[in-house]
Amino acid sequence: MTQRELQRGVGEVLIDEDRLQSRIRDLGAEISAHYEGRELLLVGVLKGAVFFMADLMRQIQVPCEIDFMAISSYGTGTDSSGVVRILKDLDINIEGRHVLVVEDIIDSGLTLSYLVRNLESRGPASVEVCALLTKPERREIDVDVRYVGFEIPNKFVIGYGLDFAERYRNLPFVGVLHDDLMPEGL
Ligand code: IMP
Ligand code: MG
Repeated sequence: MTQRELQRGVGEVLIDEDRLQSRIRDLGAEISAHYEGRELLLVGVLKGAVFFMADLMRQIQVPCEIDFMAISSYGTGTDSSGVVRILKDLDINIEGRHVLVVEDIIDSGLTLSYLVRNLESRGPASVEVCALLTKPERREIDVDVRYVGFEIPNKFVIGYGLDFAERYRNLPFVGVLHDDLMPEGL
C-alpha cells in the first residue's frame, strides 16, 4: 500500500497526532499519581493496543512491567459476540500484582468484560482498565473503565493501532473509515 492508498481509506481525521499525544500525557500523569509507591503491570490486548501502550508507558512514572494477551471473540468481522477465546495467555503470574489492562477501543464491552473477569479470578491485588477510545452508544454490558482517552461517536475508526481487516494500524492518527470501504450493515 502506498501512502496515498493508505490515506484514501480515511473518511475524516477524528483525533490527530497532537491530541492523541497530549491526552496520553494526561493519562500517564493520572495513572502515575494513582499508583504512586506501587508497582504496575500493564497488560496489553494484542494487537491494537500495542501502539497506545508503547506511548502510554513512556508517560508513566512508577516502575512498571508489560505483558500481553491475545484474544479472539467469535462473531462477524466487526461485531463481537462475547464468546472469547484466549489465543495467547500472559507469561507471568499476576497474583498479588496491580494490573492495568490497556485496550485500544471498547465497543460492546463484551471482550473486555470477559477479560477482566478472567484476570480477577487469578488473584491480582487490583485490576483496572485504561482504554484509548470508547463508543458509549454501542455498549451492551457494563464494564468499569477507570481511564478513558476519548469518547467517540458510533463510527468505525482506524489508525493508531486500530485496523480494518488488519490494515491501517500504521496511521499516526485516529480516522473514520471511508464510506466507500464500509461493509454493509455498519
Ligand atoms: P467489543 O467486545 O465489542 O468491545 O470489541 C472490542 C474490539 O473490537 C476492539 O478491541 C477492536 O479490536 C474491535 N473494534 C471495535 N470497534 C472498532 C473500530 O471502530 N475500529 C476498529 N476496531 C474496532
Ligand atoms: Mg482489538
